[in-house]
Amino acid sequence: MRKIKSGVPGLDEILDGGLNEFSTTTVIGCAGAGKTTFALQFIKKGLETGTEGIFITLDENKEQIIKEAVAMGWGEILDFLDEEKLVFIDATGKEFTNFIKKELPDFVATWRGVGARIAIDPLTPVIWATKDLYEQRELLSFLMKETRKIGTVLCTLEEHGPAGNLTGAETVLPMYLADCVIHLRYRPLEVKPYRTLKVIKYRSSRHSENAHHYRFLKNIGLVVIHSTGETFPGGKLPEPMRVEILRELGTLPKEKHGKLVKLLDSLTMKDIEGIELNILIERLREYFE
Ligand SMILES: Nc1ncnc2c1ncn2[C@@H]1O[C@H](COP(=O)(O)OP(=O)(O)OP(=O)(O)O)[C@@H](O)[C@H]1O
Ligand SMILES: [Mg+2]
Repeated sequence: MRKIKSGVPGLDEILDGGLNEFSTTTVIGCAGAGKTTFALQFIKKGLETGTEGIFITLDENKEQIIKEAVAMGWGEILDFLDEEKLVFIDATGKEFTNFIKKELPDFVATWRGVGARIAIDPLTPVIWATKDLYEQRELLSFLMKETRKIGTVLCTLEEHGPAGNLTGAETVLPMYLADCVIHLRYRPLEVKPYRTLKVIKYRSSRHSENAHHYRFLKNIGLVVIHSTGETFPGGKLPEPMRVEILRELGTLPKEKHGKLVKLLDSLTMKDIEGIELNILIERLREYFE
């Protein structure tokens, strides 16, 4: 799978290189956490590298979002709109079932580009408009599948209730359906740092498991401040460690030995962080024997 840049400086390192192309990411956060800003940065990064952008707004109207983009220092958004490289779908006030089941598939079917970036900001009105849980799941799943046909999708989701509680029905569903979930935790009434970002899940990729301080930077948007120490070094395990593992598992049949060597080549110190060597050897023995 190819990784693409998220558009948020400091975040790609945490995501082991960026977002998977043609996947769906959900960004969760309370009011003012930076969801719309994130969505704009995601779209902006794509446009700057020649990828078309589609912004589906379900809450604020198009003009308002454009105004915010210009205020955050992205005046060029107007050029991209003129050149029709960026398309806005203003679904505010629409009947969402009809919009998702009819208008959207029509749009997708006539889209000629390949590999666009699609932002949906925010998903919450769709969830609230559908009372039945089964119908909610069906609709959200359809929305994600349909949009993913034409590119990489980033949805935002409002976080309500106590900060950091991601167990409510309206949060859980989009978390299950998405490939990657990023939580923007904003606690304006508590102690510093007020804003931390954490990757909750990321299918088919490694990711940092720490909370990272992020901030708004003038004319840039969201920036992850502390992502250091979370790099994933590509280097192999140290030679003495490889030698010891291979010696301990020296009785494996030839074919399995080859697989073990391949596995050891792919592992980095980051992957086995916190696992004692003798435990690692025992688990490998159990796996291969
Ligand atoms: N140009 C800017 N300079 C500095 N900070 C900004 C700027 N624009 C936005 N912010 C910060 O971002 C916050 C709003 O960000 P954003 O609209 O992305 O959040 P949101 O999560 O989408 O909020 P909502 O749920 O209300 O839609 C503001 O409250 C402010 O703290
Ligand atoms: Mg917003």
